[in-house]
Amino acid sequence: MTKEEILQVLREKNDYVSGEYLAESLGVTRTAIWKQIHTLIKEGYVIDSQQNKGYRLVGVPDRLYASEVKYGLQTKLLGKRVVHFNVTTSTNIVARQMAEEGVEEGTVIVAETQTRGKGRLGRKFITKGGGVWMSVILKPNIDPMHASSITLMAAVSVTKALRGMGLEAVIKWPNDVFVNGKKICGILTEMSAETDIVNFIILGIGVNVNNDIPLETATTMKAELGKEVSRVRFIQALLEELEEDYLTFKEKGFTPILWNWRRFSDTLGRPVEVSCQDEKIRGVAQDVDEDGSLIVKLTDGTVKKIVSGDCRH
Ligand code: BTN
Repeated sequence: MTKEEILQVLREKNDYVSGEYLAESLGVTRTAIWKQIHTLIKEGYVIDSQQNKGYRLVGVPDRLYASEVKYGLQTKLLGKRVVHFNVTTSTNIVARQMAEEGVEEGTVIVAETQTRGKGRLGRKFITKGGGVWMSVILKPNIDPMHASSITLMAAVSVTKALRGMGLEAVIKWPNDVFVNGKKICGILTEMSAETDIVNFIILGIGVNVNNDIPLETATTMKAELGKEVSRVRFIQALLEELEEDYLTFKEKGFTPILWNWRRFSDTLGRPVEVSCQDEKIRGVAQDVDEDGSLIVKLTDGTVKKIVSGDCRH
């Protein structure tokens, strides 16, 4: 018997449930139930206990525990298994270890805080409490050359989830999501592959939700909406959007995703300055191709394809 099973019964009944009933229906002793109830209380669940009535769930903690994320989650693949940490190095690091050990596709690793949050281009990514810091393990049957499609897809899914919560999110190439000119989400995908097959992809997503950050260049959902947001509701919406896009990608390829990427893009049609390696490329962003590369028309009329870099506009 797990504490998740007790929670499930308390949720279903939505009233007092006797220790005896819980013990009988879960096939354990009343003492075992009592111990698990105590663990739940320590984790922040508010459980009222009355001597002759039993236990009643009164409140849930603001934590991305597996039991919270999975409760009411409308997905078939993503989040069937959720692994939660109060603190970890980086969810991408943990996800890679788990993927190497053969964990199933769709497993989600989520942390309240990370000590070594990783950003794009080898940068650090600050991830204090109150945000959504997660990595999803995917095993698409694609050529490693097309793995960047997954990153662009994730930017589309995050944008849809944010728009669903009333924010005017847009995508900045390659995969930053912005609201009102400030970054709200970063995506870092890492891959394990052989010459022509992908073993797994770690899709790392960090969204500023209720966390405190300097608001000069970045923003949070809380700052934009003027109120705290339920991180559980948001992560569920995000996993549902991701699953829908991932299934579309597997079934119909990248074209329908790219269509949405273009629709949500704030980069296309704008003058841009892209720093890649030692070069700074200036021109007008014309399009993104099937590999996720940015097509820029330079001032002398030549057209350049940029695979990766930092884009300003
Ligand atoms: C970027 O904008 O540079 C990408 C940031 C990606 C951050 C997320 S947070 C969850 C996951 N774990 C990490 O260490 N990084 C990603």
